[in-house]
Amino acid sequence: MQQSILQYLRCPVSQEPLELKIYEENERSYNDETVKEITAGLLSSPNGFIYPIVNGVPRMQMESFLEFGDFIKKHHDNYKDVKSDLQKRFGFIIKQGVKKHRKVKQSFGMEWSIFDYDKDKTWIFGRDERKERFLKEINANTEDLKGKFSIDVGCGNGVLTSAISEFGLISFGIDVSDSIERAYENNTQLNVHYIQADLQNLPFQTQFFDLIYSSGVIHHTNNTELSFSCIAEFIKPAGKLYVWLYHPIDNLKHHALNRLRSFTNKLPLKIQYLLYLIFLVPQALVKARLKGIKRNWREQLINFFDVLSPEFRFEHTIEEVETWYLKREFTKPEVTINEYYGFGLHGTKRTKN
Ligand SMILES: C[S@@+](CC[C@H](N)C(=O)[O-])C[C@H]1O[C@@H](n2cnc3c(N)ncnc32)[C@H](O)[C@@H]1O
Repeated sequence: MQQSILQYLRCPVSQEPLELKIYEENERSYNDETVKEITAGLLSSPNGFIYPIVNGVPRMQMESFLEFGDFIKKHHDNYKDVKSDLQKRFGFIIKQGVKKHRKVKQSFGMEWSIFDYDKDKTWIFGRDERKERFLKEINANTEDLKGKFSIDVGCGNGVLTSAISEFGLISFGIDVSDSIERAYENNTQLNVHYIQADLQNLPFQTQFFDLIYSSGVIHHTNNTELSFSCIAEFIKPAGKLYVWLYHPIDNLKHHALNRLRSFTNKLPLKIQYLLYLIFLVPQALVKARLKGIKRNWREQLINFFDVLSPEFRFEHTIEEVETWYLKREFTKPEVTINEYYGFGLHGTKRTKN
């Protein structure tokens, strides 16, 4: 974490500014600039919540103080008291956070641990292809983006978060899973910041971002419209909100996959890994080869995890999502992507006058 972002971070519970304690810093070079980064530290909120910075990444979920208890204990004299005080005052919401995120973290953590940053494409796109598609998705030219604040909500492997900063954006990426650690390690750009956070409780001031981008994420939460509503709070007036979502597909194969998921997503992850690798990846590789599509075994495996592992995977229509924008004082959204699995659309937040 670069110290410069402290001014933008807020406690996700109370929205208050945070105090920073640095335990360890390292120098890191980006192109021809070298900056100091905090590799270990602690963010404290006036309401008592604490958020550790572990391996360079701020961990800003309500339950992060439990998950990283051993790390905090090493640096904090009265961790035990802080922990019991928080559990006394906020026990219910903390427990809910743990329960809500357990499966999402496991399945997507596993999915992105397979990704090879040197060799793999994300879905079917290389870094530059994704950058190009991004401009189409949000219908912008690069001039519009310079110096603007953007957030990639549910950034996964973080490749896009990093790539789009090359348009001059100050680019934040958040994800609930541990994929955020590899996203941070593999980032090559200075103006990119990764945070582990829940999109339903973002650690920023409301109305902070010029652009909120979220591709293939909010339909994987317990309630897609609730998640849309939560992230929409963080857009500035005249800012753009883009989401890509699955739509219903009416064919036998799709219905069969949806059925299969209700069984596979309950299996232990190691079993899922072996099942997909042994029974599904080989035939998918052959099929792709016959169609002249280049996809390696990891890319295929990630795809199977994405389809068969998530606890939640809701589908929505364009008309339904349009109403979500209109209800929240956005302009009528423009659909920029409409393809086999889903669609992407963006709307602009109305200014008050
Ligand atoms: C299918 S991946 C999409 C990743 C990326 N947006 C992309 O287009 O490649 C969905 C991501 O959403 C993240 N996610 C799911 N629920 C989340 C939540 N409540 N808060 C933040 N991230 C979440 C998962 O961890 C996962 O990395």
